[in-house]
Amino acid sequence: MNSQIWMNKIWLLLSILFFIEIQSIEATDTIKPPYIKSTNGVCQLMVQGKPWVMLAGELHNSSSADLAYMETIWNKRNELHLNTVIASVSWELFEPEEGKFDFSLVDGIIKGAREHELKLVLIWFGTWKNGWSTYVPEWVKTDLKRFPRMQAKPGENSGALSAFSENTLKADAKAFAALMRHVREVDFAEQTVIMMQVENETGVLNTTRDKSPLAEAMFQKPIPAQLSIYLQKQRGNLMPEMKALLSATGRTTGSWSDVFGFSADEAFQAWYVASFVGEVVEKGKKEYNIPMYVNAWLDPNFAESIKTEYPSGGPVSKVIDIWKAAAPSIDLYAPDIYLEDFKRVCNQYAQQGNPLFVPEAHRDARAAANVYYALGEHNAIGFSPFGIDALNADHPLSSVYKSLTGFLPFWAKNQGILKSRGFIYTNSSEEKIELGDFVFTIHYTQKRDLSRNIPEAAGLILQLNPNEFIFTGFGYDVRMAPSCGKGWVEIIKNDEGEFVNGIWKAGRRMNGDEMEISFSSKPEFRWIKIHTIK
Ligand code: DGJ
Repeated sequence: MNSQIWMNKIWLLLSILFFIEIQSIEATDTIKPPYIKSTNGVCQLMVQGKPWVMLAGELHNSSSADLAYMETIWNKRNELHLNTVIASVSWELFEPEEGKFDFSLVDGIIKGAREHELKLVLIWFGTWKNGWSTYVPEWVKTDLKRFPRMQAKPGENSGALSAFSENTLKADAKAFAALMRHVREVDFAEQTVIMMQVENETGVLNTTRDKSPLAEAMFQKPIPAQLSIYLQKQRGNLMPEMKALLSATGRTTGSWSDVFGFSADEAFQAWYVASFVGEVVEKGKKEYNIPMYVNAWLDPNFAESIKTEYPSGGPVSKVIDIWKAAAPSIDLYAPDIYLEDFKRVCNQYAQQGNPLFVPEAHRDARAAANVYYALGEHNAIGFSPFGIDALNADHPLSSVYKSLTGFLPFWAKNQGILKSRGFIYTNSSEEKIELGDFVFTIHYTQKRDLSRNIPEAAGLILQLNPNEFIFTGFGYDVRMAPSCGKGWVEIIKNDEGEFVNGIWKAGRRMNGDEMEISFSSKPEFRWIKIHTIK
């Protein structure tokens, strides 16, 4: 054999080795469990190595407790154009007898989702369900000695378990760890389950803190050193409400009242609920480390009152810093938005690197408007109205999700690179929005009318190039001006079109009578791309 043949053989061998190496790098990346990636301050949920934006819907609490019932749900994917469903797993049905886990419901839900090409976010209904403990197993509910109750008044047991019980924490965390072990075993390769909600709307109701003897003893102690250190280290970086609390007292050490003043009870309760949930998350993550979040029943007064008309100690914005200090394993804090001011809540929960995810929101027509704001303004990793079981193709959200579906692959590739703005008609019929070197005056033409299933006007703008923009939404028209305030803007090209699998497909060129950037009322399947000069 001459040397040329040997050279060719070596070259071939090296090429094969190189190919195997490349394959294994890609394979390793795709078999990473889902995780959250942050680029240029924009967070993305990565699933099998690719960003996944959740056009989601949450089911009613008990829907996933029966696989036959779930058969009536799966078709929502086609009716509402969802790509993700949020479904619950209750501790009660998962561990009906202590130590005996029943995987049949979880397996059935995963199978159903796969058959319908849906991803899943699973809610662990463990110790907390809206401030109470309605979904804990009977063997827990009935053993008050081993699993003590929260007391709103000293000596009076309530329907909620106490966050101060080691036994309860151990039992909850053990069950959750068993769930995550199983999800890993059956789902690591396929990654149908992309995120977990741990517990639901935690905190205590009818009181600002647990008054049981265990809790009372802890309240007499100074705040934990771990919390003091966190508050000191993060001083410049705390949520505005926490900054205000601390500057009022001027303390980061001492008793709960010394440090948190009139919010002492809530801060105390938050620390212990968060420590409990953080431990459950940690035990779960040891088995399968996928993104895990907690959701908040929001404060209707936006922290402006001492009264807690929501579960005290849950992750409202005022105490998120306490949660972060107690439970660093939690990936994100998610608001359940039933308050009127959707924008304000999104702004609050998109602070300090928290990826915005709206796991619950009104399921009426306004959902169709809110999704534009969450995605366009805050790069939300997902949006989900609550209780979608009875929604169908007539719902305005259906056409919005449909028109966003083709856009998502483009969006996912360009998040953090291209700039966007989202907007909703709130108080004024005109709003000015800046993007690039332009000011866009949005003139809203559609008011919310829930009795007729009509959402308020909303939309998003995306800047493709310095002079090129894409618009979508409904019920508005736009005028553009240079942001320097001098000169005027000419639209050179105005194309109607749509995104198909992430690729822009132009439709009509509208350089005549239809040149206005104008979106008619009610949600419709429409995008406009314009090219301008100043
Ligand atoms: C918020 C809770 O998180 C959900 O489980 C459900 O109870 C809804 N409220 C009902 O509106």
